[in-house]
Amino acid sequence: MNVSKAAYFNSQVHSEWASREYTEEELRGIHRMLGLVGWMPHMRILEPGCGTGRLTEVLAGLAGSEGSILATDISQEMVQVSLERLSDFNNVQVECKPLESLTLGVSEFDLVICHQVFPHFDDKKRALTILHSCLKPTGRLVVQHFINSTRINDVHRKTDPSVKGDSMPGYEQMFELFEETGFTVDLLEDDDRGYLLIASRSPEHLQE
Ligand SMILES: C[S@@+](CC[C@H](N)C(=O)[O-])C[C@H]1O[C@@H](n2cnc3c(N)ncnc32)[C@H](O)[C@@H]1O
Repeated sequence: MNVSKAAYFNSQVHSEWASREYTEEELRGIHRMLGLVGWMPHMRILEPGCGTGRLTEVLAGLAGSEGSILATDISQEMVQVSLERLSDFNNVQVECKPLESLTLGVSEFDLVICHQVFPHFDDKKRALTILHSCLKPTGRLVVQHFINSTRINDVHRKTDPSVKGDSMPGYEQMFELFEETGFTVDLLEDDDRGYLLIASRSPEHLQE
């Protein structure tokens, strides 16, 4: 686990960006994303980098008793807030672990949502390989941010040394990375509305 990054995110738990409620526009972006991936209530969802559990709460509320969510984060402080926020839901499990150390079943999940976390994966190829293996053949992977890649990279450059280098790869690099790890990028938007990538498992990798 990247200890300095975990310490930085611990220090951010009460910051405005981590704890305020979503705006109407952000909620619209989340619902649009769920529509685009064909979200259904019964889905089993993995949410690495859940932070204070804001998206987790939305997903848990939508899923009801049919679906389930495994949320994880490297920051003990973030996980603590998530656990408090999600205490009324019995369809959510929250773990304090890096994505890279989770014990995940092969073909366990219908949907993986990397919400404002993808640039923070230290080894993106490794993270994607793990996510590929735990997705069902029909599963889909989402990378979503409320700001575009230029702004993401700019914000990180000006932040703590532990996340300074955490950048969103460029368009071509992203396609390459996903292709190399067995995904097909179905959609990549990087504009004023933010960043949204949706990928599915490539047909030639479905036997693996
Ligand atoms: C920018 S925050 C976003 C939090 C939340 N998804 C949100 O949108 O409010 C990124 C989160 O990812 C977590 N994180 C960073 N690297 C991670 C990893 N390898 N595995 C799991 N969580 C990670 C951090 O601790 C932090 O809480």
